[in-house]
Amino acid sequence: MVVSNVIQINELQTALQALLPLAVGCGVQQAASEVEAFEYEEEGSHLANAVLARRNEFIAGRRCARMALAQIGQVSCALPKNADGLPIWPAATMGSITHSRGLCCAVAASADKMMYLGVDLEKTNRLSARAMERVVHPLEVATVGENQALGSLLFSAKEAFYKAQFPVWGAQPNFKDLALQIHGNTQQLSVLKIASNLPVQLRDATHRMEFRYQFVGDYVVTLCWLEL
Ligand SMILES: CC(C)(COP(=O)(O)OP(=O)(O)OC[C@H]1O[C@@H](n2cnc3c(N)ncnc32)[C@H](O)[C@@H]1OP(=O)(O)O)[C@@H](O)C(=O)NCCC(=O)NCCS
Repeated sequence: MVVSNVIQINELQTALQALLPLAVGCGVQQAASEVEAFEYEEEGSHLANAVLARRNEFIAGRRCARMALAQIGQVSCALPKNADGLPIWPAATMGSITHSRGLCCAVAASADKMMYLGVDLEKTNRLSARAMERVVHPLEVATVGENQALGSLLFSAKEAFYKAQFPVWGAQPNFKDLALQIHGNTQQLSVLKIASNLPVQLRDATHRMEFRYQFVGDYVVTLCWLEL
C-alpha cells in the first residue's frame, strides 16, 4: 500500500475515534486493488458479477465491521446481508458500514447500550450544484450557500441518519425531510426540523440523536447515534 494511503487511513482512524461515544468499536481500511477472497464465502454470493472495486469495498467494509465488533468483545463471524441490503449483525449487536472511493469504515456497539447508530464517509469535492439543491433544506441554505464542503457534510450527516434509523423503522426519508444546524466550533450538528410525515417516535428520537463530524483531507466522516 502506498504511504499516502496509510497516512489517510491513520488520519481517518484518529478522526473517527475522536467522534465515538464510549463502548462503540470502529475499524478503518483501504480496499485492496487486486482481487481479494471473501473471508466468509456466504457473505459474497450476491457479488459474483460485481466489478472489482465494489467487491473489494464490500470485503474491506466487512473487515472493518469485524474489527469494530472485536473491540466490543465479539468473535469473528460472517456478516451476510439481508433482503434490504443491511448487514446481519450478530445477536445483541448493531453497527454501520460506509465506503467512499476505496476507503472503508465501520462502527459497532452492543444493542443494550445503543439504540441508533449510523456512519457515513463522503468526499467533500464531488457534490454537484444540482445535488446540493436536492440535499440542502431551506433552513440550511443561509449557512451552506454554495460551499461544497458544507453541502457534503449535510449529505453525509443525512446518510448517517438514514442508516441509523432504517434498521429500526425502515423509513425512507428524503434529504429535505431533515434540517440540521452545523456547529463548526464543536464539530456537531443539531436537528432543526424533521418532517411531520415520519412516525412520531422516530421524530422524538431524532431530536435526541447526536451528530458529530470531522473533515479529513478531502473526506468528511459523520456519525449519528442515540444511546439507550
Ligand atoms: C443506503 C444508503 C444510505 C447508503 O449510503 P451510500 O453513501 O450510498 O453508501 P455507503 O458506502 O456509505 O453505505 C453502504 C453501506 O450501508 C449499508 N446499508 C445498505 N442499505 C442500508 C440501509 N437501508 N440502512 C442502513 N444501512 C444500509 C450496507 O452495509 C452498505 O454497505 P455494504 O453493501 O458493503 O454492506 C444510500 O444509498 C441511500 O439509499 N440513501 C437514501 C437517501 C438518504 O440518505 N436520504 C437522507 C434522508 S435524511
